[in-house]
Amino acid sequence: MAEEQHLITDQRRYYPDAEAARDTWIGDYATAYEEYRNSPDKFWEGIANDLHWTRKWDRVLEWNNPDARWFIGAKGNITYNCLDRNVFNGRRNKVALIWKGEGEENERIYTYRQLHAAVCKFANGLKSLGVGKGDRVCIYLPMVPEQVIAMLACARIGAVHTVVFGGFGSAAIHARIVGSGAKVVVTADHSVRRGKTIPLKHLVEEAIIDAPTVEYVVVLRRETEHPIELHREMEVDFDELMASGSRRCPCEEMDAEDPLFILYTSGSTGAPKGIVHTFGGYMVGAYYTTKYVFDVKEQDTYWCSADPGWITGHTYVVYGPLMLGTTVLVSETTPDYPDAGNYWDMIEEYGVNIFYTAPTAIRMFIKMGDEWPDRYDLSSLRVLGSVGEPLNPEAWEWFYRVIGNSKLPIVDTWWQTETGMHMVTTMIGEPMKPGFAGKSIPGVVVDVVNGEGEPAPPGTVGFLAVREPWPAMMRTVLDNRELYEKYWNTIGNIYKAGDLAIKDEDGYIMVIGRSDDLIIVSGHNIGTAEVESALVSHKAVAEAAVIGKPDPLKGNIIKAFVTLKVGHEPSERLKKELIYHVRITLGPIAMPSEIEFADTLPKTRSGKIMRRVLKARELGMDPGDLSTLEE
Ligand code: WTA
Repeated sequence: MAEEQHLITDQRRYYPDAEAARDTWIGDYATAYEEYRNSPDKFWEGIANDLHWTRKWDRVLEWNNPDARWFIGAKGNITYNCLDRNVFNGRRNKVALIWKGEGEENERIYTYRQLHAAVCKFANGLKSLGVGKGDRVCIYLPMVPEQVIAMLACARIGAVHTVVFGGFGSAAIHARIVGSGAKVVVTADHSVRRGKTIPLKHLVEEAIIDAPTVEYVVVLRRETEHPIELHREMEVDFDELMASGSRRCPCEEMDAEDPLFILYTSGSTGAPKGIVHTFGGYMVGAYYTTKYVFDVKEQDTYWCSADPGWITGHTYVVYGPLMLGTTVLVSETTPDYPDAGNYWDMIEEYGVNIFYTAPTAIRMFIKMGDEWPDRYDLSSLRVLGSVGEPLNPEAWEWFYRVIGNSKLPIVDTWWQTETGMHMVTTMIGEPMKPGFAGKSIPGVVVDVVNGEGEPAPPGTVGFLAVREPWPAMMRTVLDNRELYEKYWNTIGNIYKAGDLAIKDEDGYIMVIGRSDDLIIVSGHNIGTAEVESALVSHKAVAEAAVIGKPDPLKGNIIKAFVTLKVGHEPSERLKKELIYHVRITLGPIAMPSEIEFADTLPKTRSGKIMRRVLKARELGMDPGDLSTLEE
């Protein structure tokens, strides 16, 4: 282990073991970055040429800020690259997907041939329900192979999937179904978590009330001995639908700029935003970053613990690794069940080489104690990764020392649903600084800037921003052009990410947290507005304001301040009822941990709730400028 103390900045640096950094796809970071800067189009064209297209592009990029078109005129299908190409090029019988559920020997394995067949069958099944190119399909499934199959089946026929994380409640599902105009919803009878089955389908039944676009609900019935009954007017059995389809299904030819998927992310103002990604640029970005950031090699077994219901799962469970022909582990299990050794047991058992997880999980591992990882052989690991929120230096050091055996590279990757792909990290081989995600990867230009878009002086807090377009960037916010433009016109015509960050003298970026009204709870993006409207929909609540409160384990917890309508009195009973109300409307991930009843909420003269005043009071900090505060 090489380590040096930098006295001026008091920053530690670590160099990954020479072995880990040898023969990487990226080679020398600085050289690769310069190649990109010298000729961005040539750089991206070089990557795109690795992939299969039915027609190549006429031009790489057309950029009329804020509108980008990438690989203009190019055509193809992402599932050809994920499936057919592997089947035809020597990976036919290679394992594509290993699924591990709770309990002993509860696994399912798909080779590339089998995954290809399953996707084609389901794609044909969807077609038989009248789903075609451009139609939207909402996928609300637990982490089972069918979730991956359904996503790929949509992509195969040009249908646009919108995956909803399995932990959301009916109001959240409803908003996403209605927002996307889904024609079909794919769900399951239940999910499994810590030994319990959690019913799902009834949430969809509630969610499709007043959702007139929905024609069919496809239900995966995991319980086969006493299967739940289907309402046959509308509901179709997943397996029956699959069995009816042929295992041949040609790829729909997609234009590079045809939409591939919509993924909702929490908005800072009211409703969640439907982030729209298109086929060509997203495919190139996902392929490039998976290969180069994780340095994926042919023999690797790769595990990204994210749910495909989030962008991390889209890009780094499904599309990226399958395009590389990798063996991907997907698991419905949790880190602490049946005991705190579960993840390490899986890494040992499957010989995982690349392990990509989240700071909230890492902090949980730390709390559970070193004795758990110490019991297992983790020597297969080669690359560690983190995503979702800042990986604080203590957690970084623990991950490096205990899981990385004080030698493995850690890629702390900063990116967003909107960016579609990794943007900032420390490429393997570069010195690593705990607490700093790293630098822009070759292909992107991320900076820390002031309100005018000028570089913030090193060491000072500024806005995280992107100066140049990149292929996997979102193309728009569904039905909300104005919101899309806001990303690009708030600070000097560069992309405003909504995060605060600091850049040091070496150009390393430390992400501090959100600058807007999003709270990241256990790595999940929760919009204050969504929780507030859920609270206000309760009959006792007049007004609500929600803040994030730092928490050693979850990163943040949600605290809600609530004023009550006349005739309702504060009580412990009511607190519980409100928490329960949020749980059933938005889902357990959005539940407030604390509720405080207040007589009034601090507001601006124009009537906007000043959350930062509540937050400052809660944390004992200076609330800053209060000139707009109403008496
Ligand atoms: C945060 C997840 C610090 C950030 C891929 C960003 C991070 C938001 C990191 C996007 C990181 C993500 N370090 N913060 N490595 N990665 N974030 O859309 O606030 O679910 O804007 O995408 O997560 O969350 P999203």
